[in-house]
Amino acid sequence: MPALGEAPVGRGELGRRGSGLDLEDREGIHRSILAAGSRGGLACFNRSVTPRGTDWSLAALVALLVLSGVLTLFAGRPGDAWVFVVHDAGAVALLLVVGWKLRRVGRRVVRPRGWDRRTAAGLAATALVLAALGSGIAWSSGVDLVVAGFGLLNWHFVLGLLLALSVGGHLALRAKPVRRRDLVHRRQFLHAAGIAVGGLAAWRAQRPLEAWLGWRGARRRFTGSYPADSFAGNAFPATSWVADRPAPLDQGAYRLRVAGLVRTPLGLGLDALGAREELTATLDCTGGFHSTQRWRGISLGRLLDRAGVQAEGAHVRVISRTGYRWSFPLREARGMLLATRVGEEPLSHEHGAPVRLVARGRRGFQWVKWVVRIEVHAEGDPGAPASTVWSSLTRAGRGEA
Ligand code: HEM
Repeated sequence: MPALGEAPVGRGELGRRGSGLDLEDREGIHRSILAAGSRGGLACFNRSVTPRGTDWSLAALVALLVLSGVLTLFAGRPGDAWVFVVHDAGAVALLLVVGWKLRRVGRRVVRPRGWDRRTAAGLAATALVLAALGSGIAWSSGVDLVVAGFGLLNWHFVLGLLLALSVGGHLALRAKPVRRRDLVHRRQFLHAAGIAVGGLAAWRAQRPLEAWLGWRGARRRFTGSYPADSFAGNAFPATSWVADRPAPLDQGAYRLRVAGLVRTPLGLGLDALGAREELTATLDCTGGFHSTQRWRGISLGRLLDRAGVQAEGAHVRVISRTGYRWSFPLREARGMLLATRVGEEPLSHEHGAPVRLVARGRRGFQWVKWVVRIEVHAEGDPGAPASTVWSSLTRAGRGEA
């Protein structure tokens, strides 16, 4: 992060040039020495936690949050809960370090006469950090906000990515190398340990506290998603990962193709698929809701058996009318369902009619809608993540074909 309010070295130096100390180091040490007589312990603390150390801690925590944030998009099984613990505890740690940093530079920031270009960059980065933190905390506290058609969690994601770009750009352009004394000091270790323990304690206390206060936040699933219309047929929210909006598929002409490494390629109409198998599964959308339904259709495993997977077949690609696709290991795919009905109703168009994938334990964007093709391959599908974005730009994705 830009060192907020930090003046360039060489201006108003307190020590000799070439001493290896930057301005804040010198000011910190100077203040520490002045304070030493009256506040011995605190003075030592000031000296041990360098401004550069603080800035690198901020950058490391932002990196941790962006990384864990991106991992949350793929975490849907209870065994993945640790990702959210890291994200939530890391967020509290970042809040503590930002508070420490603002306390340190606050006096300079409120004196606009001392501002320069770096102060502006620092202020912008601080605003971005606070916006990302604020949107996350608002979400986990139960605030339900939609701005320009996008929910709070989507905005949180966008702010997180903007912050990652801004911190990455800053590191590439002007980061000062981290030095031994920025890291190795008993008090620095205690400082870091205190922040980590504080983050974990805040995470542990959060849900019980929210329940006690009667806040909606206490009703979040471990993924941070809120409950929505379980066992109510098509009534649960219909969302798209980016903006797929295909025209309704003609159910009479519909054919589900099964191809790739199979002995007998298939082309099956809706009657041939049927709705004889049932699976109760929770759709957990990265947009922030979860809904449990009884889905009915045909097991993907049974369909693959009908087509006969060849010995080299190891991955199953599920492809939408829009070009959107996702790939799953064969073993996992066998346990999935191609649903034509939800509860007692046929699937609605918004929910992927006539056929959508039900992939228990996977996040909602991997439950491919408007499925028209299944392919068996020897390898996974590195192009799948990109397909989920460009599918919104295809003619079929825009509903024009
Ligand atoms: C870039 C991708 C990111 C994604 C996909 C993401 C996703 C999430 C999710 C799903 C939650 C809800 C977790 C829960 O309710 O327990 C959350 C919470 C939160 N996130 Fe992020 N996040 C991202 C980046 C960031 C960044 C960069 C920051 C900080 C600068 C941040 C700060 C927070 C905070 C403060 C919370 C609330 C934690 C709590 O109160 O439990 N996130 N985030």
